Amino acid sequence: MLELRNVSKSFDDHKVLQGINLAIEKGEIVSLLGPSGCGKTTLLNMILGLTEVTQGEILYNNVEIQDKPMQKRNFNIVFQDFCLFPHLNAYDNIVYGLKNLKRDLNDKKITDLIELLELRPHLNKKIHELSGGQKQRVSIARTIVMEPEILLMDEPLSALDSVIKESIKDMIQKVAETLSLTTIIVTHDPEEALTMADKVVVIENGSIAQFGTPSEIINQPKSAFVEKFILKQLKIKRDHIYNLFGDRHGA
Ligand SMILES: Nc1ncnc2c1ncn2[C@@H]1O[C@H](COP(=O)(O)OP(=O)(O)O)[C@@H](O)[C@H]1O
Ligand SMILES: [Mg+2]
Repeated sequence: MLELRNVSKSFDDHKVLQGINLAIEKGEIVSLLGPSGCGKTTLLNMILGLTEVTQGEILYNNVEIQDKPMQKRNFNIVFQDFCLFPHLNAYDNIVYGLKNLKRDLNDKKITDLIELLELRPHLNKKIHELSGGQKQRVSIARTIVMEPEILLMDEPLSALDSVIKESIKDMIQKVAETLSLTTIIVTHDPEEALTMADKVVVIENGSIAQFGTPSEIINQPKSAFVEKFILKQLKIKRDHIYNLFGDRHGA
């Protein structure tokens, strides 16, 4: 379990996040949702270990990790713009990190992951020969192959068009469920957060406005901000939102 206790972050005297309390269970998909500039990426980077916390504790399985360097936390991130190596083919991008660790490349886990992300037909392609969705799947595979304990994603769908978005969303859910992988996804898009995550953290101006399941957030918004942000941005009625959930959240 990942726990944040009263975490705050300031850049110089600019308070970006304050009093963040959060508990994320193993295997949960949790979305950090809020408008641009509210502190989502900063929060994700503090969990990853890229950004130091100013105050408070981060615990993983009851051990404080806020002072642990990023490499020792064993969490891993999928970047928004893929960050793949253009001179390597898809397969070599996927196993790049393993080669450095001198791990066995014939591991069944790798072939299973390639199947799970439906990447087999694309393994020999150069990065410029891949579509946006295929690049994102390679990027996810490259991250998961390192067997992170927590998978972090910063706006993973924002570079994709809407049809591809749906399939990548399904793929992320399938991977998280199959591997029981705790997954934290940053997004500014309420529809993405509400349809993809088990729980959603709504962030308003550096504080948690609400932490709950998608149905709780839609049915019992805790503040005018939550209600307005969710409903206005979706520009559709509550009844319609239920249809988006499908079986996953059993409306
Ligand atoms: N390295 C930094 N130095 C100074 N200010 C920063 C830094 N990173 C982020 N900020 C500020 O923190 C606030 C939150 O940024 P960010 O976490 O990127 O928001 P979001 O991801 O929700 O759009 C913004 O006001 C941003 O300018
Ligand atoms: Mg951001």
